[in-house]
Amino acid sequence: MSGHGPAIPMTSRPCGPLKGEAHVPGDKSISHRSLILGALSVGETRIEGLLEGEDVLATAEAMRAFGARVEHLGPGEWRVSGVGVGGFAEPGDVIDCGNAGTGVRLIMGTMATTGISATFTGDASLRSRPMGRVTDPMALFGAQSVGREGGRLPMTIVGAADPVPVRYVVPMPSAQVKSAVLLAGLNAPGQTVVIEKEATRDHTERMLAGFGAEITVEDTDEGRVITLTGQPELTPQNIVVPRDPSSAAFPVCAALIVPGSDVLVPNIGLNPTRAGLFDTLREMGADLTYENMREEGGEPVADLRAKYSPDMKGIEVPPERAASMIDEYPVLSVVAANASGQTVMRGVKELRVKESDRIEAMASGLRANGVTVEDGADWWIVTGLGAGNVPGGGTAASHLDHRIAMSFMCLGMASQKPVSVDDGGPIATSFPIFEPLMQGLGAQLVRSTA
Ligand code: S3P
Repeated sequence: MSGHGPAIPMTSRPCGPLKGEAHVPGDKSISHRSLILGALSVGETRIEGLLEGEDVLATAEAMRAFGARVEHLGPGEWRVSGVGVGGFAEPGDVIDCGNAGTGVRLIMGTMATTGISATFTGDASLRSRPMGRVTDPMALFGAQSVGREGGRLPMTIVGAADPVPVRYVVPMPSAQVKSAVLLAGLNAPGQTVVIEKEATRDHTERMLAGFGAEITVEDTDEGRVITLTGQPELTPQNIVVPRDPSSAAFPVCAALIVPGSDVLVPNIGLNPTRAGLFDTLREMGADLTYENMREEGGEPVADLRAKYSPDMKGIEVPPERAASMIDEYPVLSVVAANASGQTVMRGVKELRVKESDRIEAMASGLRANGVTVEDGADWWIVTGLGAGNVPGGGTAASHLDHRIAMSFMCLGMASQKPVSVDDGGPIATSFPIFEPLMQGLGAQLVRSTA
C-alpha cells in the first residue's frame, strides 16, 4: 500500500501545449461501493470500468476477507459473488485499507451490524484520520469500538449481534459518514433514517436503490431525509462504472493553464453532487465546454473540452457548493494561482481532515513556489498572479496525499521553473495512469529517482 514503499520524488517541468484525449479511470467512490454492494448481494455482480487503484484494490481484498468471492477477469472487469446482507464472515486477520478513508469507513459501517468483530488499520495518513465520526453512529446501532486516542486506527469494531435501527443527523457534510450509517442500516430491522443538512454525493442512495433496497429521499426543512428499510435481499447487478470527475479535474485544470492547450476528457459523470468544480471554473472564465451531453445509468454524462484560458479571474466560491467539489479544492487553488485576483474559499474545514490537511499542504507548497496564500480554520484565499506568472522552482510535500501530489504536478506544467513533490507514490491510490496519461498529452513529468 502507498506509504509503505520508498518515496518517489517527482518533478513537473514547464511544457508546451497539452493536446489530445484524456481517458481517465473509473470513479473511485462508485468503485468502492460496487465491490461492497456486490459482496452484500446474493449471486454474481459484474463490474466494468472498476478503478484499479490501490484504494479500491484494498477494498476488494477486504471483501474477500469478509467471505465474498472477488475475481479479476480482465482490465477493469471484475466479478463479485456476494454473501448477502448480514452474511459477512469474521476476517482471520487485520483489515488493511491502505490510504482509503472511503474504504475503511464504508466497510466499518457494513460490518457494524453483524455479530462479528474486525480490526482495521491503514497507512500513516489513514491512521491519523478521525474515525469517531463513524463509530459514534455505530454505537447507536449497538456496535462497540476500541481504537487509539482520538478515535484513530488501528481500531477494533465489535459488531452488534442484535442491531436496532437508528435516526441520525449527520453532524458534518460527509458522504462517507452518511454511507456508513446507511450500510449499517441494511442489516438492522425496520427503518433507518439519515438526515443530512447539506447534500453530499449520493452514490450510495442511488446504488442501494439499483440493487433493490427500499430507500426514499425527501428534501425537507430539516435537510435531505433518507429512509432505508432494513434487511432487504439485494439483487446482483451489472455495473458500468462512470469515469471519475475528480480525476478528470487534473487534465482539465492543466489544460486551462498551459498555453495553447486543447484537451478532450470523454465520458465524465456530471452528477450535480460531484460537478461543483466545473461550475466554478466556468464562473472564473474558463473555456470549458460540455460536448455530447447525454444520460447514462440515470446520471448526466458529457465529454469535457478544456482549452487554454489566459483571462481567468478569481472568484468567491459559494460555500454551499463545497460538498460538490470537496476533493477538487487543491487543484482549483493551482488554477487560482494562474488567474488574476483573489480566489476565496470558505466553509471548507473538512479539507483539514482529508488524506492530509489539504489547506495546509497546498498553502505551504504554493508559498514555496512564489504564490501568496492566506488561511484560517475553515477558509483560504489564493492571490492569483495571472496566466504564466507563477515563479515555481519549489518542492512541495505531498503528505501521502494523491491529490496534493497531482495538483503540484499540474502547477509545474504552467510555472516559470519546474515544480517538484517529495513523493508522487500516493498518486497510485486513485489515478495509477496519471503519469503516462499526462505525458501523452505533452506534460513533462520526471521521476527524480526510480
Ligand atoms: C467520498 C466522500 C468524501 C470525499 C472522498 C470520497 C465518498 O469524503 O472526500 O474522497 O466516496 O463517499 P467525506 O465524506 O469525508 O467528505
